[in-house]
Amino acid sequence: MQATMFVYLPSFLYLSFFSHLVLSQLPPNQINAMTKVYDLLQNDTGSSFVWNGTDKTSTPCSWKGVSCNSDNSSLTKVTFSLFSISSSEFLPFICQIDTLESLDVSQNFLSSIPNEFITVCGGISGLKLLNFSGNKLEGFLPTFTGFGKLESLDFSFNDLKGKVDLQLDGLNSLKSLNLSSNMFNGSVPTSLGKFNLLEELHLSANSFEDCRGSISAGIR
Ligand SMILES: *[C@@H]1O[C@H](CO)[C@@H](O)[C@H](O)[C@H]1NC(C)=O
Ligand SMILES: *[C@@H]1O[C@H](CO)[C@@H](O)[C@H](O)[C@H]1NC(C)=O
Ligand SMILES: *[C@@H]1O[C@H](CO)[C@@H](O)[C@H](O)[C@H]1NC(C)=O
Ligand SMILES: *[C@@H]1O[C@H](CO)[C@@H](O)[C@H](O)[C@H]1NC(C)=O
Ligand SMILES: *[C@@H]1O[C@H](CO)[C@@H](O)[C@H](O)[C@H]1NC(C)=O
Ligand SMILES: *[C@@H]1O[C@H](CO)[C@@H](O)[C@H](O)[C@H]1NC(C)=O
Repeated sequence: MQATMFVYLPSFLYLSFFSHLVLSQLPPNQINAMTKVYDLLQNDTGSSFVWNGTDKTSTPCSWKGVSCNSDNSSLTKVTFSLFSISSSEFLPFICQIDTLESLDVSQNFLSSIPNEFITVCGGISGLKLLNFSGNKLEGFLPTFTGFGKLESLDFSFNDLKGKVDLQLDGLNSLKSLNLSSNMFNGSVPTSLGKFNLLEELHLSANSFEDCRGSISAGIR
């Protein structure tokens, strides 16, 4: 009896080590999404492609701008700042990564945000940060639905225009909002006062009407 146990113990250890390795891979849908993003950015950015030299079949956790959790079993952070991206086509694919916590696409040449991005990324329950700062975004601020855990939203340094009205009303967890250096106009949205978690708000360098006193207390 005891002899049998000694025989099986090492193979049990081997199996648990092996299954640990298997568990430490990204789920196939996250690998597929990132493979698609790889192709789209390669076509979009040409000779500025930041993953030139990066093997498309390697784990996305090792790619520049991509971060995973500690055992590489899920993708948590995408930081594509200064990637020379001008096409927004990749954005909905990023939203297939349902473990995403932070998406930074700042300092690129994006001119639009696909509707599909809002509808799909809005369903990511752990998404806390979105950074679109320093792009060429045009038109009106999109209406955010979902995004219940979003804490930080940065649209600074774009060409967005029109009123800031109810588009951000669903963002119940928002702590930091940066809309500075756009072309927003109209009155400063008094509904921002509803964000009782809001700690930081930047609205400078827009065309808002005089806003003294129009935002309620609770904002540093
Ligand atoms: C990238 O460009 C090539 C050549 O034009 C095209 O065949 C391919 O479908 C494109 N890939 C994506 C993901 O759009
Ligand atoms: C990728 O990098 C290699 C070596 O650094 C360079 O020769 C090649 O032209 C680059 N390819 C593209 C598409 O930029
Ligand atoms: C996770 O992936 C990174 C990048 O490939 C690697 O450097 C690191 O060792 C991996 N960590 C684990 C626990 O496998
Ligand atoms: C967004 O990105 C810009 C430029 O990379 C950076 O300066 C800014 O701090 C970021 N915003 C947030 C909220 O992290
Ligand atoms: C926008 O404001 C947030 C909150 O204060 C700040 O963290 C971020 O760095 C600002 N973005 C830029 C580009 O300065
Ligand atoms: C705000 O900008 C929009 C479009 O850019 C314009 O149609 C509207 O008249 C402006 N409103 C005010 C109050 O300036």
